[in-house]
Amino acid sequence: MGSAAINRVIPVDFSDVQGLAAFGYAKLAQARFLLLAIRDAAAARAWIAAAPVSNSEYRNPPPATALQLTFTPAGLRALGVPEAAMAGFSTEFLSGMAGEESRSRRLGDIGNNDPRRWSWGGPKYDISLVAMFYAKQDLDSWIAANQNGPWSQAFEVAATLDTSDMGGREPFGFVDGISQPEFDWKRERAIPGTTVSYANKVALGELLLGYPDEYGKYTDRPLLDAASDTENDLSPAEDQPSRKDLGRNGSYLVLRQLDQDVRGFWQYLNREASADPDARYRLGACMVGRNLDGEPLIPAQNDNNTFTYDADPEGTQCPFGAHIRRANPRNADLFGHPGGLIHQTASRLGIPRPGLHDDLIASTRFHRVLRRGREYGAKVSPEDALQPASAGDSPCGLHFVCLCANIGRQFEFVQNAWLMRTKFNGLTGESDPLLGNRQTEGDSPTDDFSIPRENRVARRLRGVPQFITVRGGAYLFLPSLRALRYLAHLGNGGNSR
Ligand code: HEM
Repeated sequence: MGSAAINRVIPVDFSDVQGLAAFGYAKLAQARFLLLAIRDAAAARAWIAAAPVSNSEYRNPPPATALQLTFTPAGLRALGVPEAAMAGFSTEFLSGMAGEESRSRRLGDIGNNDPRRWSWGGPKYDISLVAMFYAKQDLDSWIAANQNGPWSQAFEVAATLDTSDMGGREPFGFVDGISQPEFDWKRERAIPGTTVSYANKVALGELLLGYPDEYGKYTDRPLLDAASDTENDLSPAEDQPSRKDLGRNGSYLVLRQLDQDVRGFWQYLNREASADPDARYRLGACMVGRNLDGEPLIPAQNDNNTFTYDADPEGTQCPFGAHIRRANPRNADLFGHPGGLIHQTASRLGIPRPGLHDDLIASTRFHRVLRRGREYGAKVSPEDALQPASAGDSPCGLHFVCLCANIGRQFEFVQNAWLMRTKFNGLTGESDPLLGNRQTEGDSPTDDFSIPRENRVARRLRGVPQFITVRGGAYLFLPSLRALRYLAHLGNGGNSR
């Protein structure tokens, strides 16, 4: 990692950043992700050169279609990225989501989630890139319009991930996409290391490569000799201006196909609630940390998202194990606790404040991800889900998508230390109530869910079934538009390899 060495702040060139970093494309309700294997590198480069990839510039009216391109290491190599440059990518990306058993174990990808059972993305699948198409309407025409020229020679479609519009709710029926980190696009925050102040605003280097992150450091990314960028496609690295930055304005994209057993979820809750509808919804809300309409269990100021868990140290308002309390504990930061120098330094290093149930909760600022997922399959309402499965049921779930600059410290940390880990925030014997794989750890169960109660012993659900199963997944690189031009110029007489 380089350290922040710049004196002047270079404004972000929004036209160079793929649009997903700035927009969720909520109005483009139709989406399909094509998983492609490169069959002919020259044809693939020619197609990429002309592809109308959408950027992060604000446009009014917003565009009616969008296209995003993301690459696996195999795809970048197939296009001709030199090995010296490949070595600059993160080890998680290079190894792959399913590349090592220890990684699979940490991500909870064991038992039914084992990559050997995945329909795509496991070790034996050949994927070079994922083309993500979005449209307000006529998605088929938008995709067909892009499958032109060199497309058929360039690619073989290895898998197609369809999505469906569930009106802003995930398949269990809860409003999703409420809480997102806000990134410091204007680069207004003081260089970390001088002062630390908590806000939902996160350093841009947590989202994009090539900018200082929450530690004030530039995340490792591929930097090239200027001479190898023969077409002068890339920007100089901000921290090492003599080198060209293949990562700048790019990000990593995590994609996981997560099947959801909607009937299993609501029928289990119904049993535990003795068929009382209010108690059933209440249990569901305890598992998520919000009710179906998105209202948090902790009263929020003004909106549904301005709250911390400081006022609920016993977890009696929102269980410690609720999905949103695990996924973003919102504490161990300086919000409301200005503290002295030692306190600030400890917080920057991720050392938790004493006196909280925070054995594994490091400072949340270092572990934020930008979620951009899309649902798939047919919607079943929480009420209909109480009926037995019908022959017409098709799999449904979430194509979980998130962006981050450091896969290990952001996505993997959240997934492993907070969601999957049984020892979290003073809990034992349970992992995330939605995502847990319910596999035992040695002799210890992982399928409990505890709900603390005021002046009473906590209610403890046991034998919670597996509701979510991983069907595929990949770590991808979302290059800047300049980096896409660099890729298109590789090979035949273009950038030297
Ligand atoms: C099918 C799988 C999943 C479902 C059904 C689901 C559902 C939800 C719901 C209903 C919310 C509340 C809405 C909101 O606050 O925006 C939420 C929030 C969140 N989820 Fe998930 N989620 C899933 C997978 C994941 C995964 C795999 C991760 C990360 C590894 C994750 C991380 C988060 C985060 C960070 C939040 C926001 C927490 C906050 O800031 O308060 N989720 N999820």
